[in-house]
Amino acid sequence: MSSSTQNIDSVLHEERVFPPPIDFAKRARISSMEDYENLRREAHDAPEAFWARMAEELHWFKKWDTVLKWEEPHAEWFVGGRVNVSYNCLDRHLETHRRNKAAIIWEGEPGETRTLTYAQLHAEVCRFANVLKSLGAQAGDRVALYMPMIPELAIACLACARIGATHNVVFGGFSAEALRDRINDSGCKLVVTADGGFRRGSEIRLKPAVDEALQSTPTIEHCIVVKRTGSDVAMQQGRDEWWHELMQNSSSDCPAEELPSEHPLFILYTSGTTGKPKGILHTTGGYLLGTHLTTQWVFDIRDTDVYWCTADIGWVTGHSYVVYGPLSTGATVFMYEGAPNHPDPSRFWKMIERHGVNIFYTAPTAIRSFLKWGEEWVRKHDLSSLRLLGTVGEPINPEAWMWYRKVVGNERCPVVDTWWQTETGAIMIAPLPGATPTKPGSATLPLPGVEADVVSKAGESVEANAGGYLVIRRPWPSMLRTIWGDDERYRKGYWSEFPGAYFAGDGARRDREGYFWIMGRVDDVINTSGHRLSTMEIESALVSHEAVAEAAVVGRPDDLKGSAIVAFVTLEGQHAASDELREELRRHVAHEIGALARPDEIRFSDMLPKTRSGKIMRRLLREIATSGSVAGDVTTLEDISVLEKLRAEEE
Ligand code: PRX
Repeated sequence: MSSSTQNIDSVLHEERVFPPPIDFAKRARISSMEDYENLRREAHDAPEAFWARMAEELHWFKKWDTVLKWEEPHAEWFVGGRVNVSYNCLDRHLETHRRNKAAIIWEGEPGETRTLTYAQLHAEVCRFANVLKSLGAQAGDRVALYMPMIPELAIACLACARIGATHNVVFGGFSAEALRDRINDSGCKLVVTADGGFRRGSEIRLKPAVDEALQSTPTIEHCIVVKRTGSDVAMQQGRDEWWHELMQNSSSDCPAEELPSEHPLFILYTSGTTGKPKGILHTTGGYLLGTHLTTQWVFDIRDTDVYWCTADIGWVTGHSYVVYGPLSTGATVFMYEGAPNHPDPSRFWKMIERHGVNIFYTAPTAIRSFLKWGEEWVRKHDLSSLRLLGTVGEPINPEAWMWYRKVVGNERCPVVDTWWQTETGAIMIAPLPGATPTKPGSATLPLPGVEADVVSKAGESVEANAGGYLVIRRPWPSMLRTIWGDDERYRKGYWSEFPGAYFAGDGARRDREGYFWIMGRVDDVINTSGHRLSTMEIESALVSHEAVAEAAVVGRPDDLKGSAIVAFVTLEGQHAASDELREELRRHVAHEIGALARPDEIRFSDMLPKTRSGKIMRRLLREIATSGSVAGDVTTLEDISVLEKLRAEEE
């Protein structure tokens, strides 16, 4: 363990190892560690030649002249190349057996289903691309998409990509103000929305929020509205148009634009820890290559697979692994509109059974909810179609990982814990399921071409098992290009902390075998009695106790220790809060990690404050632990009532 207070002490120890199942390895694209090492070496020794070889897999209207132009911190990939993402996701498959295979199978929350073959999806995308053009959108214009999880959202993304309009998807759970700010920051010309969508049995209305936002969005000329729920909406003449009316008269002939490789594909806003959201810009060729390759490497996706990533397209995971990655490989994507526990907690398992899902990719927060709801919901269903499980979004604690593998995967399916970010565009650190032995809680090894390292505050690589800062030492094709309208913030935020390297903002540890253990955002570190502890590791220790379903740990300023450790704990259904349990949990953490990590305070709560993408908002818990109330921004909080409950807990 590192004794430096500058670095991050890592205290999580996990010894379990699971080799890839033999049958899986036999048919995998990368089927041994030797294959992996060879690719990794090739990429390390001659990165540009490696990426050029990989890029041959895509369709290019014109090949590039230069693989990489790198003037830190600005990268241009496949300079001189001409390419279209929508062509690669659609047209390319039409001349093959995939023409009439399902591209998207969709299920609405009320239970209806729709299937679009590649030929049908292509026709819809072309029609909508023509609609966009007819309303004045051209290559380079920005288009906001504020929609529920319905096929039209994927169609709209692909239609933008087809004509070179840059999409800016705003998650449908965001407020009118959030939408307005994102539209204004990126200067969108059009907005596409729906009357509403369904979640937990109710309608989430979208159009009223758009109407409110559009009162102060001077750049918006038109609003296109999908009729999803059929509820009454106000349509402003001259500005608002119905999707289905425009589509009726629109031709399905729309050749894909031959775009420069660096053409802006999308802007996606991600909340920084402070300040206003950042518009992360991704471009065409490099992003497509990243998502395409990683879908093949990490999911080992097959033509016969039904693949389901549960993320909303409003997040980067939905962009890269619902739409672009899987469609570029010609897979069948399953897409679901609603909540995982509607009408009851078996909904996901029912759909896996009904649609024969083979690959399932979800988030640790969802896995912890499943765990809390109990395995009987899972056990009732035949999940034998599953062959691979994935997770993304935050560190997964080993107990949740083990539960996922055992209860959902029936101990047959490899589990891939994938580390990446909105900024990285595609998966960076993850197991290759036919090659990499997995360890619960570790994202394992960097993918070929990803030069990841763990460094000290001074920027030097730290020794094995010492905690530090996760950096990427070389540019990669799917990296963000800048922050829209604020290049200085891009430079400062990502490329100035550690000279010559991209700083991801995460803490990590690398074990003796080079495996990465991500500890979460460095802001989620507590400095207590001279030790810097990752909150995630204390949370993991808590969750390893049988009574605990979920835990969030924060620091409270403390004169003596620097920070005192405060843990918010949600119990499993059958356990009740008590002082004895509180003491037992404190002892348990001390036993698992050491007395230095023993929580000073444990608070029981039925629920924790989360963002709409499921991340625990430790910032709010920190405020509650420190001052007893919340003064900061709560616009991204999923369920505001949780704050009241947490305050009531305190009394
Ligand atoms: O802290 C890391 C965490 O999520 C952050 C990125 O969040 P976002 O841009 O919203 O993208 C989420 C989906 C890619 C990272 O900086 N994170 C993501 N995946 C993991 C993770 N932390 C640990 N393990 C992961 N597998």
